[in-house]
Amino acid sequence: MLSTVKRLVVDTYQQQHLSDVARRVARARMTYLRPAKLRNLEACLRRIEADAVPGDCLEFGVALGGSAIIAATQMGAERSFVGYDLFGLIPPPSERDDDRAHARYAVIASGRSEGIGGDRYYGYEPDLLAKVRFNFAAFGLEVDGRKIRLVPGFFADTLPLAGDGAVAFAHIDCDWYDPVLLCLEHSYRRLSRGRVHHPRRLQRLWRLPSRNGRVRGAACRSATRRCHPQCGIHEGLRPFPPRD
Ligand SMILES: C[S@@+](CC[C@H](N)C(=O)[O-])C[C@H]1O[C@@H](n2cnc3c(N)ncnc32)[C@H](O)[C@@H]1O
Repeated sequence: MLSTVKRLVVDTYQQQHLSDVARRVARARMTYLRPAKLRNLEACLRRIEADAVPGDCLEFGVALGGSAIIAATQMGAERSFVGYDLFGLIPPPSERDDDRAHARYAVIASGRSEGIGGDRYYGYEPDLLAKVRFNFAAFGLEVDGRKIRLVPGFFADTLPLAGDGAVAFAHIDCDWYDPVLLCLEHSYRRLSRGRVHHPRRLQRLWRLPSRNGRVRGAACRSATRRCHPQCGIHEGLRPFPPRD
């Protein structure tokens, strides 16, 4: 009960700092990201524009298109947005994921998962890609295959064909260890200088050392750790954006 109240208070506070688009996306139940995460996403997007970081915006894990719509709306006119997703039922976690991930997947696979606010779970949509295009259109955005591109398929199949153009901003939001590692490896080498990397579930790690020194999201945390030597991530991890 107390945690529900606390969550509500925090969400209400964070909502005040969101753009109109982000608020509309959240109201339309198109994103799983809580207001604090959306605020962080928007801060990252502002930062790449302010610093004129060259490159496109990529997202790995689009689901209903919520965070994608926010990125595509706020990126500069010279950039493209590319969203990668299976646009179907999320693949299972692996033995590298924890019990919580497997329990969550069991519910999804059983057909009993609820969507946001009681909606149909996006993974059960008969044509999720069409729904996401529709969601983009509701925000005045056309998925034209040039400025805005959605690439359906498993990351393991689509990323090898993705090219190596510069990336200004990568949003990694794909839940389990293996896809997180794959997307980190792919995107990190393409990131421009002055880059911002924003793997949703790694935020606490990127914020280390945190005040209490604890991090959450074991699978993503270990994927990032493993990625460090492989991707050549040697720089210190700093909070972004700075905490209030
Ligand atoms: C948490 S959702 C994305 C949420 C979204 N960014 C939002 O704003 O709510 C994770 C997405 O990652 C996708 N995904 C996970 N693993 C994948 C893989 N191996 N290949 C392609 N898509 C994958 C799932 O299908 C799902 O749509």
